[in-house]
Amino acid sequence: MNWLDLERRRNPTPTAVALPDRFEEARLKLLWDGSLKEMAVSYCEKAEELIDQGVAPFFVGRSGTGKTTAAAAIARVISIGYHIETTWASAPDVLTRLKYQRWKGEEELLALMRVPFLVLDDIAVFPPTSEEFGIWLRLMTQRFDDRRPTLYTANLALSSKPFEDLAQKYGPLVARRLQEGSGDYALSLL
Ligand SMILES: Nc1ncnc2c1ncn2[C@@H]1O[C@H](COP(=O)(O)OP(=O)(O)OP(=O)(O)O)[C@@H](O)[C@H]1O
Ligand SMILES: [Mg+2]
Repeated sequence: MNWLDLERRRNPTPTAVALPDRFEEARLKLLWDGSLKEMAVSYCEKAEELIDQGVAPFFVGRSGTGKTTAAAAIARVISIGYHIETTWASAPDVLTRLKYQRWKGEEELLALMRVPFLVLDDIAVFPPTSEEFGIWLRLMTQRFDDRRPTLYTANLALSSKPFEDLAQKYGPLVARRLQEGSGDYALSLL
């Protein structure tokens, strides 16, 4: 993907991403000092290059560690600061909807595959059904193959080897896509 592609992916004017109400006030500068803030700031500083490369941040950890707050702050910078079209989706919500909507669901899934920057909040909150898992894997694989970045958050208490734990829980395909896609931007908040 070269810079011309990036230009094509930009909106001429900034667009606001539809964040959940509770996170509308989330800002990078308001994040608590620590590794999550450092990573969020670093991603935003290098966003053009990282988005071009398809680098997909992955925040995993306990409840209340600020994963969604950081994701919302990043999504604002990407959409309003860089004018890159961004979609926000809660994974349990979107997977359930896609599962029940058949053709309309397929259209929405294709749109999610193509959006330049996607936030998929709370993947893996509960064990997905095989149908939900299939949808999730299609979305993840297509975006990974096309180098379109997705910011994933997961509420899981993982060990210091999160990708090994993930491989055990969700299989090696999911673990590898999250690991390869995130590169230096994977953070396990223990
Ligand atoms: N690093 C942080 N910076 C700023 N606020 C934080 C941070 N961590 C937690 N908070 C505050 O704590 C609350 C919970 O944060 P948030 O919902 O982002 O956590 P989470 O990791 O997404 O939790 P869950 O896994 O339950 O979805 C929010 O009100 C948020 O303002
Ligand atoms: Mg959250």
